[in-house]
Amino acid sequence: MNIDRYKAYISAETMMGPNSARILAELFDKYPLRFTSDDRILDLGCGTGLTSLIIAKETGARVFATDLWVSAEENGNRFAEWGVGEQITPICEDANDLHFEKKQFDALISIDSYHYFAGSKGFFQEKILPFMKDNGRVLIGVPGLKDAYTDCAEEFLSDWIGDDAHMFKSPKLWRKLIGGSNRIELVKTWEMDCFSKAWDDWLATNNKFALSDRQHFETVIKPYTCFVGVYIKLKREL
Ligand SMILES: C[S@@+](CC[C@H](N)C(=O)[O-])C[C@H]1O[C@@H](n2cnc3c(N)ncnc32)[C@H](O)[C@@H]1O
Repeated sequence: MNIDRYKAYISAETMMGPNSARILAELFDKYPLRFTSDDRILDLGCGTGLTSLIIAKETGARVFATDLWVSAEENGNRFAEWGVGEQITPICEDANDLHFEKKQFDALISIDSYHYFAGSKGFFQEKILPFMKDNGRVLIGVPGLKDAYTDCAEEFLSDWIGDDAHMFKSPKLWRKLIGGSNRIELVKTWEMDCFSKAWDDWLATNNKFALSDRQHFETVIKPYTCFVGVYIKLKREL
């Protein structure tokens, strides 16, 4: 994916953390998704919708941009301004309580969000899988802990993010938490390559959260954390 295509949309206003366009680009380069305008993708925890825009442009699918903290009205206005109002539907809902029809998504994508709501065993099977079509694909990129520090998040990250440290899980632990099902063919988790570039873009902004992250980058974020990539392939119809 050529990230330069989206330069005009990547700004301090649309970024909510390390550059989500870079995380998405790595996932798409590894696992390209091509769809038609009849296919549907759920962008879960879409924030300001930057990822939804890129997903829509790169795949050609209809995108359901779902988020909890950003209102559907705000994202809808942005999508209209960006000229993708017809292709992207903004929704404000909690990932724990989604109201879609069953088996309607060809893919689920979630960037820098899944750790907020999906860290318990069985979440994927109970809250996500019912909405996915057979043969569906899932691409997730989340901040996490390097495998070497599995289960030590509180010890290493509390000075930086306090009680939120428990949300940082290693690739190994995400693999375990996602678990299996008779509808899942394959789950892969790995430490992503885009870490430095995604963080550099975010730390260069004047966002107040970026200022605090800057103070902890060399001592906490860089030595102990990573981005965890997750790829899930669902089986064809049983
Ligand atoms: C750091 S932002 C990332 C947003 C966007 N995906 C990106 O990368 O720019 C995390 C997002 O997760 C969303 N989120 C947190 N908890 C959620 C939940 N329970 N259901 C849906 N979205 C949630 C928030 O609303 C927030 O916009």
